[in-house]
Amino acid sequence: MCGIVAYVGGRRAFPILIKGLQRLEYRGYDSAGVGLINDKKIITYKQAGKVSDLLEFIGDSDTSGSIGIGHTRWATHGPPSQINSHPHSSSNSQFSLIHNGIIENYSSLKKVLEEKGHVFKSDTDSEVLMHLIEDVYNNGNDLVDDPKWDDDDDNTLFKAIRVALNEVVGAYAIVVLEEGNPNEFYAARKGSPLVIGIGNSEYFVASDASPIIEYTDKVIYLEDGEVAKLNKNQDVVIKTILNEDKSPYIQKLEQSLESIEKGGFDHFMLKEIFEQPKSITDTMRGRINPKTNDIILGGIKEFESQIVAAERIIIIACGTSWHAGLIGEYIIEDLARINVEVEYASEFRYKNPILTNKDIVIAISQSGETADTLSALEIAQEKGALTLGICNVVGSSITRVTSGGVYTHAGPEIGVASTKAFTAQVTVLSLIALRFCQLKKTVPRGNYNFLIKELIEIPKKIEKLLSLNKDIMKIAMVFKDASNFLYLGRGFNFPVALEGALKLKEISYIHAEGYPAAEMKHGPIALIDEEMPIVVIATRKENYEKIISNIQEVKARGGKLIAIVTEGDIEVKSIADYCIEIPKCFRELTPLINIIPLQLLSYHIALMRNCDVDQPRNLAKSVTVE
Ligand code: G6P
Repeated sequence: MCGIVAYVGGRRAFPILIKGLQRLEYRGYDSAGVGLINDKKIITYKQAGKVSDLLEFIGDSDTSGSIGIGHTRWATHGPPSQINSHPHSSSNSQFSLIHNGIIENYSSLKKVLEEKGHVFKSDTDSEVLMHLIEDVYNNGNDLVDDPKWDDDDDNTLFKAIRVALNEVVGAYAIVVLEEGNPNEFYAARKGSPLVIGIGNSEYFVASDASPIIEYTDKVIYLEDGEVAKLNKNQDVVIKTILNEDKSPYIQKLEQSLESIEKGGFDHFMLKEIFEQPKSITDTMRGRINPKTNDIILGGIKEFESQIVAAERIIIIACGTSWHAGLIGEYIIEDLARINVEVEYASEFRYKNPILTNKDIVIAISQSGETADTLSALEIAQEKGALTLGICNVVGSSITRVTSGGVYTHAGPEIGVASTKAFTAQVTVLSLIALRFCQLKKTVPRGNYNFLIKELIEIPKKIEKLLSLNKDIMKIAMVFKDASNFLYLGRGFNFPVALEGALKLKEISYIHAEGYPAAEMKHGPIALIDEEMPIVVIATRKENYEKIISNIQEVKARGGKLIAIVTEGDIEVKSIADYCIEIPKCFRELTPLINIIPLQLLSYHIALMRNCDVDQPRNLAKSVTVE
């Protein structure tokens, strides 16, 4: 989704903005732009395409100035084009704005503004917001009714932004520049993320910390409904849109620069796949008592008795996180015997869900910013359910609106296709299942201890599996030109089949479907012919015999079989065209290792098809709109 970066201080703004936009590229976008105050005037450069296209467009043009805003746009209202790109200017070019989010009532606001003589150049909701701010600035509160307008003596643009934002329905993170004011700009947010970095007489603003890390570790996460005035010669001033003063809460950023760089790998996705032994270890770190094997999950400790007594857990999530949720359903039900339902957040929020204060709602989200998941949580809270989060990004919106939760601690994930965040989510869900089976005594102590031992061994098993990378590359070479793929799995590994298919379609643009293996005969079997590769997860213990029957059904119709099998397997090996051997593992924990070869297979196929692995077309890393 859209990325925001802004700088004011003593350095040249342009290189900071461009580097920042490049750091935000992973979020997904289709046009880019910058605005600089140069000799008191605002200069704007924008272009459809990538940041590199913007740079080519700018060429040798003047990019001086020590204040500026930059934006990557992921098209919502209007196609990717120069005119729809940000920054957007006010009618007289006095102000310039960048925006992430969606102004839901933009068409009614636009109509009122047009009646007042405003002329719009773009199709965007963002330009409407710029004009609304301008109108309030010029005409006071004739458009909006703010009793505090007249007796407030702060700077007029600051005031105009606050007042205008009271009229807005929807989500926004914005930064606004003012011509003739090279020392300061304004930033505001509601529903879309925004971080302020504090340097030495300088400020940075960005959609996430990645453009800021190399300059400062002092940050403020702006809260919903807050507007900040950032003047390089002054302390931060924060007010709510209702004109209440707020004291800035400055935090220390815990990320490192290396964590957001490729570290010798060709792509972030490959780096993140290979990081999984470490990221899973980080997810478990400090959470398993080495002497007693007890699990400690500090962020949900105070709710343990409520969870034990809960009638059900409802997991809400989107995309890959939803697949992790499905695995959570299998493992929590199996081990802790708590009823679990898994819902797409986007469906849950509109279906008038039945919820009571005995329900526990767990939101799973890598970014912690997914708009549908956040809205679903709001509904859960309105209905009185306890809401918890499983998130990767520290300080993200979901972590702030939930009563408690567990961080995945996978480190920044930059590749759009989620890999290490997924296995970290599954690790957290496994820890939750194990914690509650211990509290509820639903699994004998001996078995529990074996499961803990096995969980601790998982990173080593993944390490071993990663050494098969070259073999998987060879299989990818055989199937890189396929048009369709079918992924089959059963039980704990049915969601793994879904996730394997999602990985392939996200980055290689090959149509792929995941299916519970037994359901194949109720439809997908019609698709099978000699052209159709079928990936089957056929590791031991997970309905092995049944899966073998499903494999026979595929072979009888000429399908090409790639099987994920347990090391030492003979039976499937004798039938399948290609096999990838997985280290032996307890049934409950197999998803954590079975997904690894599927991630690698997708990566290599996408690469062989010349696809942009880290920034696949049309996708966004963090989906902050509905
Ligand atoms: C986008 C990403 C997916 C991700 C999904 C949910 O679609 O491209 O990789 O799984 O959002 O994101 P979340 O941050 O909530 O896990």
